[in-house]
Amino acid sequence: MHSPTRLIPSPLFLAIAFTITILCPFSCLRVSAARCHVDDETGLLGFKSGIRADPSAMLASWKKGTDCCQWLGVTCLTGDRVTALSLGGQPNNLTTTLTGTISPSLSKLNHLDGLYLQDLKYLSGPFPHSLFTLPKLLFVYIENNNLSGPIPTNIGNLIQLEALSLQGNQFSGPIPSSIGELTHLTQLKLGGNHLTGTVPLGIQRLRNLTLLHLERNQLSGPIPDLFSGLSDLISISLSNNKFTGTIPGSISALAPKLRFLELGHNSLSGKIPDFLGKFHALDTLDLSWNHFSGEVPKSFANLTKIFNLDLSHNKLVDPFPKMQVKGIESLDLSYNQFHLGRIPEWVTTSPIIYSLKLAKCGIKMKLDEWKPAETYFYDYIDLSENQITGSPVQLLNRTDYLVGFYASGNKLKFNLESMRFVKTLKYLDLSSNLVYGKVPKAISGLSKLNVSYNHLCGQLPSTKFPASAFAGNDCLCGSPLPQCKA
Ligand SMILES: *[C@@H]1O[C@H](CO)[C@@H](O)[C@H](O)[C@H]1NC(C)=O
Ligand SMILES: *[C@@H]1O[C@H](CO)[C@@H](O)[C@H](O)[C@H]1NC(C)=O
Ligand SMILES: *[C@@H]1O[C@H](CO)[C@@H](O)[C@H](O)[C@H]1NC(C)=O
Ligand SMILES: *[C@@H]1O[C@H](CO)[C@@H](O)[C@H](O)[C@H]1NC(C)=O
Ligand SMILES: *[C@@H]1O[C@H](CO)[C@@H](O)[C@H](O)[C@H]1NC(C)=O
Ligand SMILES: *[C@@H]1O[C@H](CO)[C@@H](O)[C@H](O)[C@H]1NC(C)=O
Repeated sequence: MHSPTRLIPSPLFLAIAFTITILCPFSCLRVSAARCHVDDETGLLGFKSGIRADPSAMLASWKKGTDCCQWLGVTCLTGDRVTALSLGGQPNNLTTTLTGTISPSLSKLNHLDGLYLQDLKYLSGPFPHSLFTLPKLLFVYIENNNLSGPIPTNIGNLIQLEALSLQGNQFSGPIPSSIGELTHLTQLKLGGNHLTGTVPLGIQRLRNLTLLHLERNQLSGPIPDLFSGLSDLISISLSNNKFTGTIPGSISALAPKLRFLELGHNSLSGKIPDFLGKFHALDTLDLSWNHFSGEVPKSFANLTKIFNLDLSHNKLVDPFPKMQVKGIESLDLSYNQFHLGRIPEWVTTSPIIYSLKLAKCGIKMKLDEWKPAETYFYDYIDLSENQITGSPVQLLNRTDYLVGFYASGNKLKFNLESMRFVKTLKYLDLSSNLVYGKVPKAISGLSKLNVSYNHLCGQLPSTKFPASAFAGNDCLCGSPLPQCKA
């Protein structure tokens, strides 16, 4: 549009270019390939000079005199101007990192619309003020790095922004109230920093928000009642903060579209509101580790699409509603004041469940009588601190990919030698039951084991586990317990 270099090359030009490439493939490369705008080249080389370590050679292609539009991570959508800079490491790979700071010379890239600096881990320094001079900037994802200091109070000047993510850095101080000026935002992700203070009311002006993620900070005060106009929200995560008070009523406005609501690990209280049962699109609801009390609303029966439900560690009481879910993937109702009696039928029939946690849920059944429809997907089963009798042997013979089985504090009575240890099993806690027999060699494949306070007997196989894992049995002996008598 604005760029004369986008003219279609004439046949003569092509012929010359071809000749040059043949005659001098290396020395003439500068001439034939120098395509990107000099400001962009200067800006990017400035960025590179702010990087002190690049162990995976991410910026190896960034060489002066070559076309910067061809450099790794650089996009020029329109002509010779750089429109996006996108450098990403692999999340758990300590080689794909960049150490250094974001150079102010980024301000030369004045056609930039997207800045994506993700999982580089060691990129540090303050919020890059050069962003304020980039008139076309729409998308900022500076995620999982080590930037620190405050989020600038004038962040609201980035008025054109459509997405802002600073998640996974070390930013501290309050969320500036000017954030309410960013009315074009569809995503706001500030999770995993050290932000303090309350949630600014101005967020209610961000009417196009689909995603509001402020989890893993130290935000406090009540969750403001600001959701009534934010009916495009699909995902809210406010977990792991210090929020107090109740779930605000205006969240009910989000019923048609909201899929993820994560409020776990706060100090919220009061009842779980009835209106949550109207959230027909809800996929994930996490209210765990709060002080919610009273009954779970009967309306939850209508949450037919829920896959992940975590209400653990609250003060909820009976009766638990009979859910109409098509399938649940993970369920945690542990450590409330429920007396479920049995593992609910709607759990037993779920075809896709992989994580079931019902610790201290007042379950009084014989485990052999539990016949789950599908056991193939199970990773974790936690039935600790109930009054479950019988044997898990049949169940554990069917769970081919189980990783953790926790059943301490029950009345399970079976011979440990008859239990099948699947290859995937890493965590086994059977402490304080009525388990008998010997400790089999197969325990050596586990990462954590506790069989204390049972009726086991005989010599222990060689083991890395401490004595407390075997304490309180009838007649176990051998390291780490006292030697067996000859
Ligand atoms: C980490 O990234 C480097 C560079 O891309 C690669 O060679 C290496 O295989 C990766 N390591 C792992 C564990 O993925
Ligand atoms: C992160 O940045 C801080 C300075 O804010 C620095 O002290 C620390 O060493 C950095 N950490 C890493 C892993 O680079
Ligand atoms: C919100 O989104 C709609 C539909 O995409 C768009 O027409 C409108 O301009 C957006 N509003 C703002 C303030 O960006
Ligand atoms: C479930 O939704 C239907 C239709 O919206 C409603 O009539 C019914 O009362 C709801 N059930 C519960 C238990 O809230
Ligand atoms: C485990 O299952 C296999 C076949 O699926 C069966 O042969 C075996 O007897 C079972 N073991 C126990 C202890 O139930
Ligand atoms: C095993 O469980 C007992 C009883 O709950 C506890 O005291 C002990 O610390 C546990 N040991 C290990 C290794 O987990």
